[in-house]
Amino acid sequence: MKNIHLYIFGIGNVGSTLIDQVLQSHTFFRQQHGIDLSIVGLANSKRVLLDLEGISKNWKDDFDNLSEAREADSFYKVSSLCDATKIAVDATASKEVAQCYPELLENNFNIVTANKIANSLSQDFYDLIRVLLIKKNLCFEYETNVGAGLPIVQSIHDLYSSGEQLFAVNGVFSGSLSYIFNRFSEEQIPFSEIVIDALKGGYTEPDPREDLSGNDVARKLLVLAREAGLKLEFDDIEIQNLVIPSLRTASLYQFLEEVKQLDPVLQEKKESLKEGEVLRHLGELDVLHKKLKVSLKAVKKERPAGQLKGSDGFFEIYSESYAANPLVIKGAGAGKAVTARGLLADIIKVSKASQEVLVFR
Ligand SMILES: NC(=O)c1ccc[n+]([C@@H]2O[C@H](COP(=O)([O-])OP(=O)(O)OC[C@H]3O[C@@H](n4cnc5c(N)ncnc54)[C@H](OP(=O)(O)O)[C@@H]3O)[C@@H](O)[C@H]2O)c1
Repeated sequence: MKNIHLYIFGIGNVGSTLIDQVLQSHTFFRQQHGIDLSIVGLANSKRVLLDLEGISKNWKDDFDNLSEAREADSFYKVSSLCDATKIAVDATASKEVAQCYPELLENNFNIVTANKIANSLSQDFYDLIRVLLIKKNLCFEYETNVGAGLPIVQSIHDLYSSGEQLFAVNGVFSGSLSYIFNRFSEEQIPFSEIVIDALKGGYTEPDPREDLSGNDVARKLLVLAREAGLKLEFDDIEIQNLVIPSLRTASLYQFLEEVKQLDPVLQEKKESLKEGEVLRHLGELDVLHKKLKVSLKAVKKERPAGQLKGSDGFFEIYSESYAANPLVIKGAGAGKAVTARGLLADIIKVSKASQEVLVFR
């Protein structure tokens, strides 16, 4: 039996669902994969709970009652006490946590992340992580950076690494903006009400402006562009920002108080649609010309993007072999359950890879 220790950063929507999924499937993983997964560390932005025996179903009460103030090296103190394979799981949207990845790798943690910040910081930082992964013989998985649980990153990776020429990746990259514009196009209610519903339902980023500004989709485009071998920076992306200038630098509280100010602009865009058109928030990655674009567009209802429902993500991949008839991936593109399951799939992948390394040695 292979012992795997999980250290989870972030116990919000995705992190807490992941914890429940790990605890529920614990016996299955032992029987099916010979892997004993224990969650030995949990952290939010302020507190940390450590238990080398593994947390139990009462983890929420334990976190409330037994957690300690978080310090920068809280996880390293206990992780050095045992020789189990370590996986740091990042279920935050925090830049501070993303910037710790080089240090985590130096401390022999594999990394599984839903947080797309690390892969969309500077190209130098991106390259540094890859250098450390090789040096330390560790794994880094991030399928949930794009399309939540949908297999987008792996598909692009497999095509690129098998020598396929990629041409373009287009689609609705954001499950939250899919949810928002699918509803806004169909329902006669103000845009701001749908944004608040999406936030309450856990569809948007903790700050919905990360979605509405186009930054979240831009980060996803950059993750895929780099997966397809391009060397680009965030500033190279053409982004349409849907947040009016006066609300861009306001506090989150103030933004939510005044989100109604977005209604007239979006209502005008909706009223300017022609018969049979709907609004869709699109990401376009032109691999051949190294152009990345994020924008809100009118799309014919009968087109595949026009048919989306709920929080569907939708991706069309054009390449040498999929030139006339693109590879299409579609399905729930947001939501805590699918995202947590995607993280868990990556955790199992890393656990198995570390098992193989041991057998090989
Ligand atoms: N929700 C989805 O459908 C979805 C889909 C795909 C990907 N994702 C990604 O999943 C990640 C988490 O999303 P979420 O919806 O679960 O967010 P969330 O509910 O807001 O939870 C964020 C968690 O991160 C913690 N955190 C923030 N800064 C931290 C720090 N410096 N150190 C440790 N913990 C910190 C927060 O703690 P405090 O409470 O103390 O601030 C909170 O527990 C994001 O990167 C998001 O892009 C989400």
